[in-house]
Amino acid sequence: MLELTPVAGALGAEVKGIDLCGPLDSNTFKALNDALLNYEVLFFRDQPMSPAQHAALANLFGKPQLHEAYPHVSGYPQLTILENDEANPSKIEKWHTDMTFRAHPPLGSILHCQIMPARGGDTLFASMSAAYAGLSSKMQDFLSSLTAIHDFSYGFKESLEAPGGRERLAQMVLDNPPQEHPVVRTHPESGKKGLFVNCLFTSAIKGMKEGESRALLNFLFSHMESPEYSCRMHWQADSVAFWDNRITQHRPINDYWPQHRKMQRITIDGDRPV
Ligand SMILES: [Fe+2]
Repeated sequence: MLELTPVAGALGAEVKGIDLCGPLDSNTFKALNDALLNYEVLFFRDQPMSPAQHAALANLFGKPQLHEAYPHVSGYPQLTILENDEANPSKIEKWHTDMTFRAHPPLGSILHCQIMPARGGDTLFASMSAAYAGLSSKMQDFLSSLTAIHDFSYGFKESLEAPGGRERLAQMVLDNPPQEHPVVRTHPESGKKGLFVNCLFTSAIKGMKEGESRALLNFLFSHMESPEYSCRMHWQADSVAFWDNRITQHRPINDYWPQHRKMQRITIDGDRPV
């Protein structure tokens, strides 16, 4: 029996009464999926998953996506290692939904904490269904008619401009031409509506003048950052977060350098936003 404790008003629940290291029966899987749809991000404590157990859990929800740009756990190409320390500070600092520059952005990710700094290194999550619900019906109607451009090259412009960046990322640029997604997305399972633009990858609103597009996006980006739509995960070793990438954004807090932080992540394939 899952025990769910909400961690904030808009989204997020801590889940007890489940062992992510063991096989999940179909009832437990369904309860877990229902909790994910309801709370949009789930947190777990004391789950010392092995790479095989992490992979088995992710497989229940869909096919893993591979990330050629990141190192991975030996023998598990789907198990990405996110590791930062004194020599390699983290550079990700903006709110985003993962990989919206793809035609099929991920369903979600399961992130497992391996090494946690003594202080700092939390992650913020925000509910895009709550951010959408917080708008007037006039604005909701207007946004529902719009399409946005999501662009890998826009999100990775600093990496591309770094020495050798164009060469290193040439294949990624070729493989990821800009994509169009609706500004308001309907969740394929829960039917909830959510904002589906993010400041990392959304470069423009289709069919608008540049000034109009920038003004509208800047308004939406500052609107979704309201603390009322967010929750915060404080990690410990063997904490796990599972977020629904179809209806949330997240933002790592880079306040732990030069300490060591190591996470392992599996990203699950999703469908085309509608
Ligand atoms: Fe991310």
